[in-house]
Amino acid sequence: MTPDSPLSSQHPHAEIPRVGDKQDKAEGVQRMFADIAPRYDLLNRVLSFGIDKSWRRAAASEALLLGPARLLDVATGTGDFAIELKRRSPETHITASDFVPQMLDIGRKKAQARQLDIMFEEGDALKLPYPDASFEALTCAFGFRNFADYGRGLAEFWRVLTPGGRLVILEFPPPAGGLFGSVFRFYFRHILPRIGALVSGNAGAYTYLPESVLAFPDPARLARLMQATGFRTRYRLLSGGIAAIHVGTKLGSAGWETL
Ligand SMILES: C[S@@+](CC[C@H](N)C(=O)[O-])C[C@H]1O[C@@H](n2cnc3c(N)ncnc32)[C@H](O)[C@@H]1O
Repeated sequence: MTPDSPLSSQHPHAEIPRVGDKQDKAEGVQRMFADIAPRYDLLNRVLSFGIDKSWRRAAASEALLLGPARLLDVATGTGDFAIELKRRSPETHITASDFVPQMLDIGRKKAQARQLDIMFEEGDALKLPYPDASFEALTCAFGFRNFADYGRGLAEFWRVLTPGGRLVILEFPPPAGGLFGSVFRFYFRHILPRIGALVSGNAGAYTYLPESVLAFPDPARLARLMQATGFRTRYRLLSGGIAAIHVGTKLGSAGWETL
């Protein structure tokens, strides 16, 4: 591993992408998701005990609240969130975007099998291949944490949303304190990586997951980052704080305070 490698050198036994904001990790993230793509859905269900479906349902309700005509699901992966959105709102035109073709291929096949008309397109969230003001709603489930630059990601979200457009981010905040937080932290750091490694055959990916969550901004800080981009925001914790839904509304202009 060279000093410039996009993989972290902190974990010599498991090559994982770097974690945190403003990190050169895109290549490492792409490689990791390309490798785990075939087992990604199974692992989601096993590692979250199936609760991930209810988180996506709650986030979908927020994203569809104003009946968007066009919605972009960024970092769609294998498309579970885009599928949930299309099932709930067949009249919304849904574009599902990701920068790992292996993940998109699985999503495309799943949507076809369900006869759902979703456009799966390759694209980098930090450089979205869409003109300004193209979508009334934009969603991103468990993808944002992996971006190499959070501010740049938010600026791209802001750019492609129409004025008044709605942003919904579903993410894992760092576990809070208290007994539940400690128990969850233990599961997350010691049990989840072992099950993940066993099922996926990729030890790095399921070491990266908890490490990237622990390095992620807490919900109040993410809300402030969204506000600094020009969004009016609110957020809600789910399942005792394991996941969080952030909702942003595009008001005013980037760089201006919105009161
Ligand atoms: C944990 S998966 C989440 C997939 C899906 N949204 C879900 O809810 O299951 C994260 C996804 O983010 C994608 N991703 C990470 N950084 C990205 C970027 N800069 N541009 C596009 N996709 C990105 C990865 O390729 C991966 O498919």
